[in-house]
Amino acid sequence: MIAIGCDHGGVQLKTCIKQYLEENNYAYEDVGVVSADTPADYPDIAALVANKVCDGSCSCGILICGTGIGMSIAANKVKGIRAAHVTDTFSARMAKEHNNAQIICLGERITGPGLAVDLVAEYLHAEFQGGRHTGRVDKITALEQA
Ligand code: RB5
Repeated sequence: MIAIGCDHGGVQLKTCIKQYLEENNYAYEDVGVVSADTPADYPDIAALVANKVCDGSCSCGILICGTGIGMSIAANKVKGIRAAHVTDTFSARMAKEHNNAQIICLGERITGPGLAVDLVAEYLHAEFQGGRHTGRVDKITALEQA
């Protein structure tokens, strides 16, 4: 199950990504919001998606705001979460292969719908490579204890 959420700045892009998920038979849970006209606070949505990943009810998440920056900063505050703000397909793949990011963050005002769907596809198709990357990801987790 994929958790997906956005603030008012990401509603249109979320619709495009949901269409891709549906067409490719990915199960998702949309935590909101639905209106581009009603301001929403991105940390609230980031927390909803991040907590679904943390409690295991969703295996990964997609967060969208105007830039993707606020969502990534907020999601990364949740213990255990590695959220990657991505704007190119190489980074979208590396976010999973090297960093084992559970969440990717996109910006509707930055990334057009065609590229955004490619970013999601690249991320979802990628696999964590483990090996030398495992210890590095463990060191990220260790930083949370400091
Ligand atoms: C909302 O105007 C905007 O600040 C938000 O969507 C996001 O870009 C924050 O990082």
